[in-house]
Amino acid sequence: MTTTMPFARITNTNPATPERVAEVLANPGFGTHFTDNMVTARWTATQGWHDAALRPYEAFSLEPATSVLHYGQAIFEGLKAYRQPDGSIATFRAGANAARFRTSARRLAMPELPDDLFLGSIRELLTVDERWVPTKQGSTLYLRPFMISTEAGLGVNRPAGSYLYSLIGSPAGSYFTGGVQPVSVWLSTEYTRAAPGGTGFAKCAGNYAASFVAQKQAVEQGCDQVVWLDAAEHRWVEEMGGMNLFFVFGSGRDARLVTPELTGSLLPGITRDSLLTLAADFGYGVEERRISTEEWERAAISGELTEVFACGTAAVITPVGSVKHERGEFTVAGGEPGEVTMRLREELTGIQEGTRPDPHGWMHKV
Ligand code: PLP
Ligand code: COI
Repeated sequence: MTTTMPFARITNTNPATPERVAEVLANPGFGTHFTDNMVTARWTATQGWHDAALRPYEAFSLEPATSVLHYGQAIFEGLKAYRQPDGSIATFRAGANAARFRTSARRLAMPELPDDLFLGSIRELLTVDERWVPTKQGSTLYLRPFMISTEAGLGVNRPAGSYLYSLIGSPAGSYFTGGVQPVSVWLSTEYTRAAPGGTGFAKCAGNYAASFVAQKQAVEQGCDQVVWLDAAEHRWVEEMGGMNLFFVFGSGRDARLVTPELTGSLLPGITRDSLLTLAADFGYGVEERRISTEEWERAAISGELTEVFACGTAAVITPVGSVKHERGEFTVAGGEPGEVTMRLREELTGIQEGTRPDPHGWMHKV
């Protein structure tokens, strides 16, 4: 489908009061409050995508035998809408999220959502729920597009025959409470997130379902976040919880950034991709390659490794201060946020908030 599908509009006759919106936006937290409306669209083999609608945010009704509840065909995306200095609203690289959503759909044998429907749904929701986009600096409206299989039936020899796409919006403050505080990480060797040929590169619900036990273990070890290693050797660094990782070697103009290469078992983060571009713009060396836990520890202790940070849409950039594994622990650069980390963070958030030039055309006004 290449033509823009019109969205039916079902009016919310009981929207939140202005006082309630102000109360939520004063202290939004992350992922706990939702705007007045949502978008839905349906897919069947005979009709393709149809019934796109903007409607009041409300519960879905699903039969107990609905396939997503049993076999987990569920994918999602995460992106943000930012209030600009002139009061308008803009999204960051939404087209990249649309493309990744199609990649995830293909891996889970789900129908691809055309980009114009993905982008149109965002425009539609932001137009009607504009008042839910925070004006407070650092706060945003987190957008959560997702798709589930909806066919009722327990047969498991083929993918489901019907799907629901939906988009919801949630005002967001900072993801990690406490601002830009370095996090401590636990290197997980007991559990792995993804294996070659698996679903690591897709943003599917099952990846997250499988991750909680390891995140719980990290907390039991006194750490904030789990770091995933490769499935075969438990040696190569993949990513941190729901974020990609960067390693900074050297400092000043000679800084070099290394990030794990996209092997198929880690998520190709849009923040990761953007930071590779910004780092090159700054004149830093950038490398996508394998990095082992031995190299991480050795270079941290020798001082060659000067900064480590994680990046993703929700938390933007978070420094990694200390690392624990089964045989010991070490810190990176005394556990303080580094210069390169903070410079990249300021540049990226400046572009997103509209206070810095956007030379790559990443922002789109709604
Ligand atoms: N890795 C995982 C597992 C994630 O869930 C996310 C978040 O979406 C990321 C990395 C970062 O991706 P992005 O920068 O596109 O938000
Ligand atoms: C991210 O944006 O970095 C995420 O991992 C989102 C998370 C809430 C799943």
